[in-house]
Amino acid sequence: MRLVLLGPPGAGKGTQASNIVEKYGIPHISTGDIFRANIKEGTALGQEAKSYMDKGLLVPDALVVSIVKDRLLKDDCKQGFLLDGFPRTVNQAEALDSELEKMGINLDRVINIDADADILIERAVGRRICKECGATYHIKFNPPKVEGICDKDNGVLYQRDDDVEETVSTRIRVYMEQTQPLIEYYNQRGLLLNVDGTQAIDAVFTVISEELDK
Ligand code: AP5
Ligand code: MG
Ligand code: ZN
Repeated sequence: MRLVLLGPPGAGKGTQASNIVEKYGIPHISTGDIFRANIKEGTALGQEAKSYMDKGLLVPDALVVSIVKDRLLKDDCKQGFLLDGFPRTVNQAEALDSELEKMGINLDRVINIDADADILIERAVGRRICKECGATYHIKFNPPKVEGICDKDNGVLYQRDDDVEETVSTRIRVYMEQTQPLIEYYNQRGLLLNVDGTQAIDAVFTVISEELDK
């Protein structure tokens, strides 16, 4: 299965991605996660990406596209993949289309998870992530059993640098301007699955998996 997860910041892409990749056994490719891993390792790519991410702006297309192209050529993508947070501009979507065409493959579905801005801000600002395994929690909607500690491995939970209200607002605005046009782009191609992201985490996953199992 070859899937794309679309949706504004805080809609629940990463949360649903963990469920989807577990159920369908495909790799999770999150461009945001790739950049954060590079920032942590102190690479040149990480440094460049950070200058945009901290402001809530998109990293330039050329940089993102080349990373994704390389990633899609890895062996584990032969059985399928789940792209999370890519593409994010029409340019990126066109680059992906031409890359997939070269590889002789197509996308199966584009899952668009949506929610209103006030919900998105509350979700992003309350998000906490495990330093060890990357598991995502929310202080109110999905709290760990012990505050500040991961349920799975006792890792310490941290907050993303771009999860402060002002930056989240910028990210939402950037999404509306640059990413939202992709909804129509994929709708025209008959790939779009719209999912109401305001439901509970499990309910959102039920809708997605029922649709993918059809
Ligand atoms: P990225 O990491 O992709 O961030 P984002 O798109 O802003 O999305 P988030 O990760 O914030 O939200 P999410 O939808 O994954 O929500 P989550 O499931 O965690 O990108 C970061 C930056 O990298 C960008 O700003 C840009 O600079 C750069 N970048 C990345 N890709 C790029 C690209 N292609 N081109 C250019 N630049 C790029 O959930 C959020 C919270 O809500 C969690 O706490 C969770 O527990 C909770 N939650 C989730 N679902 C529910 C629910 N149904 N009910 C209640 N709570 C919920
Ligand atoms: Mg995410
Ligand atoms: Zn953990």
